[in-house]
Amino acid sequence: MAGSRGEFSSRIGFIMAAAGSAVGLGNIWGFPTQTASNGGAAFVLVYLVLAFCLAYPAFMAELLIGRYGQANAVTSLQKMSRTVFHKRFAFVVGFGGVICAALILSFYGILAGWMISYAIEPVATVIGSDEAASWVIAQSLPRNIIFTAIFMFLTVFVIRRGVEDGIEKWSKRLMPLLLTLLIILIAYVFTLEGASEGLNAYLNPDISRVLEPDLLISALGQAFFSLSLGTSVMVIYGSYISKKENLVTLGAQVTFIDVSIAFLAGLLIIPAMYVAQAQGVAIFAEDGSLISGSGLVFTVLPSLFESMGAMGLFVAFAFFVLMSVAALTSSISMLEGPVSYVVERHNIERKKATTFIGVLIFLMSVAIISNIGVMLDFIATLATEYGQPIIAMLCCVFVGWIWHRSEILKELQQGNEQVENTLFWKIWPWYTKFICPTAILIVFVHSL
Ligand code: PHE
Repeated sequence: MAGSRGEFSSRIGFIMAAAGSAVGLGNIWGFPTQTASNGGAAFVLVYLVLAFCLAYPAFMAELLIGRYGQANAVTSLQKMSRTVFHKRFAFVVGFGGVICAALILSFYGILAGWMISYAIEPVATVIGSDEAASWVIAQSLPRNIIFTAIFMFLTVFVIRRGVEDGIEKWSKRLMPLLLTLLIILIAYVFTLEGASEGLNAYLNPDISRVLEPDLLISALGQAFFSLSLGTSVMVIYGSYISKKENLVTLGAQVTFIDVSIAFLAGLLIIPAMYVAQAQGVAIFAEDGSLISGSGLVFTVLPSLFESMGAMGLFVAFAFFVLMSVAALTSSISMLEGPVSYVVERHNIERKKATTFIGVLIFLMSVAIISNIGVMLDFIATLATEYGQPIIAMLCCVFVGWIWHRSEILKELQQGNEQVENTLFWKIWPWYTKFICPTAILIVFVHSL
């Protein structure tokens, strides 16, 4: 299969694709929600520190595994293995990641479907179809199935085209669109009354809160989800990077983009909440904490948009298109994990494999939808609170304890000859060996 493997055609192509995977509902919905429920600016501060100090090193481990192995997660990890035990362990970790990606996609597709439906609502209103407008945003079985199907269709459409024509091309188109929309919305919200109060809640940390265990754990979990770790996704994206590229800077650039977009999303949503408050929307729950969860995006924001009059219809449309776009560049990466595995390990043609796995995951989504009250939360918790941290931790264990240091150096030196003399090389191997697994273990034990 080696000859037929795809590769990102350019540096920027990889950056857009990997940032596309990383930037998603986790950034634009998850991060502001967590910020609102964990005391505002203190959470932002902790998140920034953990993203660069823990998630970035783990992210580098996954990229490196992939670029070294030049294959899907299982094959790549097995190439680093020296004993039969290592090989089995490699299978468990790699395949676990593939399953985790599939599980995440099965619920992510439902949430993304909601984003599309909320983008259609203002359109339906403009064309005067009030009935359709209220149908698309009301929870119902047919609505959920239809919009999840639309979203899955888009995901399959891109992945069938492969790396360069599919993932890279679409990420390069969609990511700049996302950033532009985000900036326009922030600029708009800043002109409204109440925004400065929101800015204060977002940027002025209450330092006494930064060491609260719950806050630390939520921030770490959020950082791992946001960088798509523990799902085989970054391993496979790493395998599509040319050996001429400097992985250390590429990884840092993607982390920077991911964190910045989360930060920008917070800059939009937290002030938007206070603007909504100035317009009479309740943004505090009974216990005095900021409203969070789905209420944030589906209640507070729409009422803000509504209060803007006719202009609000346009803003609502733009915002939910933005959410859908962000979700799509993430979901394609989730589908690429299982697809690349099946294509490379079982020699199945890419288009067939994509459609087959897409349909399978869609059926899982339908199962979740039919019992949404219980299943959605269950699958999301299973995949993101257990699956992702455990697998990300095991990837660090692989790099730190199983792979030879000299081999790691050799791989890093490709595209970065001087790496041995850099701070990165002095700190990172040690960090990945001890600090990352320990920190992740702490999170995991806590979540038990
Ligand atoms: N990082 C994506 C987000 O923030 C979610 C994701 C998780 C993507 C796991 C791929 C794999 O929304």
